[in-house]
This record gives sequence, structure tokens and C-alpha cells, in this order.
Amino acid sequence: MCGIVGYIGARDATEVVVSGLQRLEYRGYDSAGIAILNHDDFQVRRSVGKLSNLQQRLQEQPTHGQQGIGHTRWATHGGVTEANAHPHRSDSGEIVVIQNGIFENYLDQKRRLIEQGVAFHSQTDTEVIAHLIERETKAAGDFLAGFRRAMQQLQGGNAVVAMHRRQPGLILAARLDNAGGVVVGLGDGENFVASDIPAILDYTQQVLFLEDGELAIITADGVQVERLTGEPVAKAPQRISWDPVAAAKGGYKHFMQKEIFEQTRSITDTLHDRVDLENAQVMLDDLTLTDQQLRDIDKIYIVACGTAWHAALVAKFLIESLARVRVEVDYGSEFRYRDPILDRGTLMIAITQSGETVDTLVPMELARKAGVPCISLVNAIGSQAARLSDGGVIYLNAGPEIAVASTKVFTCMLIAAALLALKLGALHGRLDRNAMREHLQALLALPNKLGTLLQETAIYEKLAERYRHTSDMLFLGRGINYPIALEGALKLKEISYIHAEGYPAGEMKHGPIALIDEQMPVVCIAVKDGVYDKMLSNVEQVKTRGGEVIAIATEGDTTLRDAADFVIEVPQTLPLFAPVLTVVPLQLLSYYCALRRGADVDQPRNLAKSVTVE
Ligand code: G6P
Repeated sequence: MCGIVGYIGARDATEVVVSGLQRLEYRGYDSAGIAILNHDDFQVRRSVGKLSNLQQRLQEQPTHGQQGIGHTRWATHGGVTEANAHPHRSDSGEIVVIQNGIFENYLDQKRRLIEQGVAFHSQTDTEVIAHLIERETKAAGDFLAGFRRAMQQLQGGNAVVAMHRRQPGLILAARLDNAGGVVVGLGDGENFVASDIPAILDYTQQVLFLEDGELAIITADGVQVERLTGEPVAKAPQRISWDPVAAAKGGYKHFMQKEIFEQTRSITDTLHDRVDLENAQVMLDDLTLTDQQLRDIDKIYIVACGTAWHAALVAKFLIESLARVRVEVDYGSEFRYRDPILDRGTLMIAITQSGETVDTLVPMELARKAGVPCISLVNAIGSQAARLSDGGVIYLNAGPEIAVASTKVFTCMLIAAALLALKLGALHGRLDRNAMREHLQALLALPNKLGTLLQETAIYEKLAERYRHTSDMLFLGRGINYPIALEGALKLKEISYIHAEGYPAGEMKHGPIALIDEQMPVVCIAVKDGVYDKMLSNVEQVKTRGGEVIAIATEGDTTLRDAADFVIEVPQTLPLFAPVLTVVPLQLLSYYCALRRGADVDQPRNLAKSVTVE
């Protein structure tokens, strides 16, 4: 989704801003642009499509200066055109603006501005903001005062960054009402602003995060934060310890491939320092809820979207089974519209990679308003979900995930959910020391087992070749592997554009069986667990109707070797933890299918890594 970068200081602003935008490419976008203040005038360059188009434009029409802002846009209001790309200028050209989010009352404001004689050049809500700031700046006689007044008129979650031609040396940034993040990077004689930390990490690790209703006044020599109403806000800088090199591809062809192969390390990092085998305990130091508060919980809502929602479905199995606490899983986008019961004894858990998904953040706010504590399983440090979590966080520690399709963060989510379920299980008196130790040992053995799955990829290349012209695929699983069937189907459709459906295998006979013929490959997750025999009968049913079966089976399963057309074996583990392993072949299958079909693996069409609008 949209990315913001701004710079002021002695370096070449064009270079800093474009390199920042490159770091944000993973968020997904459909056009990009920059505005550089050059000899008291703005030089704006914009283009649709990939950032390389903008870079090409900059080669043809170079511009340099000591301050600038840039943006990658993911269209919401108005199509993907150069005119709709940011930055937008005000009527007189004195002000340039970039924005993330949705300006909900923009039509009202636009109508009023048109009545006042303002001419519009785009269909965006952002352009309205540029004109609004100009009108208010004229009325107030001052850019800062005008910016404040304009911001107070915007409804909806918005992050806005602006510059004024006649006020060189100044960048203003505001974060309104649950907008995507705004991070201010602090340098020596230079400062930065961005929507996400990776954009500025090459230059500084000292940052300030803006909260809702805060505004940053950024010059080369300093940053002042205040409320929109003008009261100063004292903020201590935070240090971000991510290594920018960790975000590079590191020899792999695609980020997604790198991230799949990093999972041994990433799940180890999720487990790191959290398992005390000797005393059979789980330590979740960033949770601020007391043990007593955790004991008092008798109902949990988990909210999430996309891949994280599948992790939430697995988490339900884990928590209900290990702690015997009731769990409901909701799509973040549905929760707010269904009048949920938020009462005492309820806990909300948000699961989110970015911590910026608006559909997940809104339910958290609803819970907080109702006095229900929230915790989050989140990857992005300091993200909004982390900051909204009054009950604390479990950081996934997966490191930056760049590919739009989530892989390593998904397995880390499963590990974090297992740790939480075990902790709750112990606190609710459902797990004695021996059971706890057995589960912890199984968890600690997972990285190694996952590693063995990454050693052999020939089978996926073979399958990708075989199914390169396939238009549909079905994924079946039962119990805790049903969410993995959903995830396998999602991964395949997201990056290879093959239509795929995930189904609970028991439901096959109630509908999808009608689709099965020689043209329909069916992936069956059939590991040795309590529903193994049922899965075997699903495999038979598919075979009887001419379908081809790719089975994900437990190591050494000779029955499936005979029954299925292709078998991918995964190491044995406790059935509750099997999803951490069964999902890996499905990630690899989708990766190789996408590769074979020549798709843009890391940035699939129409998708965004982080979706900060509803
Ligand atoms: C987008 C991404 C998905 C992701 C979902 C939730 O739709 O394309 O890959 O699973 O958002 O993102 P989150 O950051 O909240 O986990």
C-alpha cells in the first residue's frame, strides 16, 4: 500500500527519497512520484507503474535539492494515472502534498473548494488536501497555522506530509485518526520522515513515532512534535536495531524464496529466550497482563486478515486444546459490523505482520473502548498494533518480510500462538509440568524439522511443470490442517494466479466433489493425526473420480505412497504443531508454480503488503 518518504538536509534529496521509496516497494503500489524543492520552486516528477519508470523519468529530467518528498501510490480514489499520482500541488503551486489513507469527507470539501473557484487536476482526495492547506494558509497568514487548521478538517485515517515553496527548510507531517504509521528519522543536520522504518533505515536508526492527532515540524536541524491544537509533545527517540542488509535478497532470486528458506532461523528467533525447558515454562516478557489477569480470561476473540487470519484459525485450535479457553476467530473487516459481545473476562488478540492493517486495528480500538484488553502477535516493532496493545505484545521477531505474500511470518505466527497457548494452558491448570515439557521439546525441535523440508525442491519444480497450464486446484485438510489448506490455496492464487480453493475435507462431498475430474489436481494434507483415516478416504474419493492427488504425508507413510499420485513427506511432530511443517510444501509449491508461469512473485498484481485503508 502507499508509501511516504521525506528528507531535509545536506544530501541530495532526490537520491534519499527515491532510495527510500525503493525500500517501500514491497508494500505494493501502482504509481510513484517525488517533489523536490529546487531554487524556490517545486520540481514534481511522477509516473505510473514501477518505480523504475520514475527513475527513468528522473534521468530524462533530473532534479536535485536539499529537501523533498516522495510517494508510492496504491489507487483508492481515482484510477492509476500520472495525474492521480502524488505529490499533488495546490492551486497556485505553492504547496505540495503526499498522503496515505482515505480522506472520508473529501467530497464535501472538494465541492466547497470548487465553489470558491479552485480548479482540480486529479480525481484524488489528496489534491483536495493540497488546496485546503493553501486556503487555510492564506487565511491564517502562516503555513504551519494553515496546515494545522486544514488537518483539523480531515476525517478518516490520514498521514499527510507537505512542503511550502515560500517556506524552504521546512517539512510538516501529521498523523490523524488511526492512519498508517508516520515515523520521523533523526539525523545529524538532516531529518527524515516515512510511513515505514525500512525507508530510512539506511540513514538513521533513531526514530520518533507520531501518534494520532500529532504533527511534526521537521527542519534540517531539529524536529518538534505537537498536537494538532498546538501543544508541544515531548518524545524520546527510539533506537531501531534492524540491519538494512537483512532486507536485501541475499543471493535468492526472489524475496519470497529467501523468506521461505529463512524459516528455520525465523521460527528459532520467535522461540528465542521464551522457552525455559528446565522449569517447564514459557516466558513472554512483553506481555503486560499479569498471570492473574490471564487466568481470569474465559473468552478470546482473535482478529486478523489474510494469511494472518489463517494463523488465527490455527491459534484457535491451539488455545482451545491446550488451555480450554473458548476462542472465536473473526476477520478484522467483519468484526466491527457485527455487534460483538465485549464483556468482562474477554481478551482480544490481534495477529498481524505489519501491525498497520486498518481492518485489524479497528476491532482493537473497539475492544479498548469496551475495556477489553488487547494483545497482539505482531512482527513490525513499534507498529500501531503494538502500540494499541494495552495487554502487551508477542513480537514475532521474523525480521523484515518483503515479499507481498507472507511466508516466514506465518510460521512465526504459529509458533507465537503455540507459546501463548502453552502459557495459558499452564495458568488455567490444563497442562502439568510433564505435558508442558513435552510440548516445549516438540516446539524446540521444529526448526530442525522445518530445515529438512527445505533440502529438496525437485518435486516442486516437477509439479510446477506439470500444472503450469492448470486453471484450478483444490486444497483439502481437516482439523488443525484445515486452515493450512486455506493458506495453501491463498498462496497459490495470490502469486501464480491459478484459481484455488481451500476446503475442510469433510465438506468435499457437500459441493466441491462436483468439480473433480482429470483436470483438477487436489492437494490433500493427510498427516498422521486423529483425522488421518478420514483424509485417506478423501484421497480415495478424489482418485475414484479421476482427480490427481498430491498428498502431504507424514514421513514413512507407505499407504499414501500407494494411494496418491505424488507424496511430499513432512517430519513427524505433535499433531498440534504439524501446521508449522505442512504449510512449507504448500509455500514452495506456490512459489515454483508462480515462477514457472512467469508471474511477478514478490509483487503480485493488485495486492499490497500492508493494507492501511478499509
Ligand atoms: C494484505 C497482504 C496479506 C496479509 C494481510 C494482513 O492483504 O497482502 O499477505 O496477510 O494484508 O496483513 P497483516 O500485516 O495484518 O498481517
